[in-house]
Amino acid sequence: VIFKSSDYASVIIANEIAQLIKEKQARQEHCVLGLATGSSPIKVYDELVRLHKEEGLSFANVVTFNLDEYYPMDKSNVQSYHYFMYEHLFDHVDILPENIHIPDGTVLQQNLHQYCIDYELKINSFGGLDFQLLGIGRTGHIGFNEPGSHYNSVTRSITLDHLTRSDAAPSFFGIENVPKKAITMGIGTIKKAKRIVIMAWGHKKAEIVKETIEGKITSDVPASYLQRHNNTTFVLDKEAANEL
Ligand code: GLP
Repeated sequence: VIFKSSDYASVIIANEIAQLIKEKQARQEHCVLGLATGSSPIKVYDELVRLHKEEGLSFANVVTFNLDEYYPMDKSNVQSYHYFMYEHLFDHVDILPENIHIPDGTVLQQNLHQYCIDYELKINSFGGLDFQLLGIGRTGHIGFNEPGSHYNSVTRSITLDHLTRSDAAPSFFGIENVPKKAITMGIGTIKKAKRIVIMAWGHKKAEIVKETIEGKITSDVPASYLQRHNNTTFVLDKEAANEL
């Protein structure tokens, strides 16, 4: 779906999420959301916060799992995805603290493998993700599943691509400060979501959007795996759709 502006597109996405939360509430069920960071979802979170504050949307039944976190990374660090999520969403809505899950960038190296297994199990214990929100990196990554990621990959630690680190460099005041690793849900984790919405805004994403949507399904462009998912919508603004 191509929209004139990312502002309007973000409102539409937020409203789909709000609708799902309400449907689940009416059935007294948890609503399990897979959430993304980066600049792309910010306006979606803004609208969800507005719906909470102005229209009484409650997050009391919402359980969230974030896609990824830099590794190593302190939770209090302003560059952490942990910090980002509280700043843009969790500090402003009535979600229960115990329902928030974000990969922990402070886990000791020797415990990391087990930590990732447990994160995966935790998602499954809630019956999997009802909805997964995704952005896309210029390497074609979703979460931090860089090129080479397997279709059936699960939550794990991964080495970041140079392009990914250089795109993150400005917010870290230099590429030398960008962590070399991250923890990410796998492609296999993401593709089990019942519904996926992937957003891309701006001309910088146009090339990878074309490869993802019109190219062949390949581990070189992990987002292309979404072509096989039966309930995924790509939401684009005009600039991101420019090469289609
Ligand atoms: C990071 C995140 C991704 C995100 C990507 C794009 O690499 N791990 O989940 O999709 O950045 O970020 P942006 O939305 O800022 O373009």
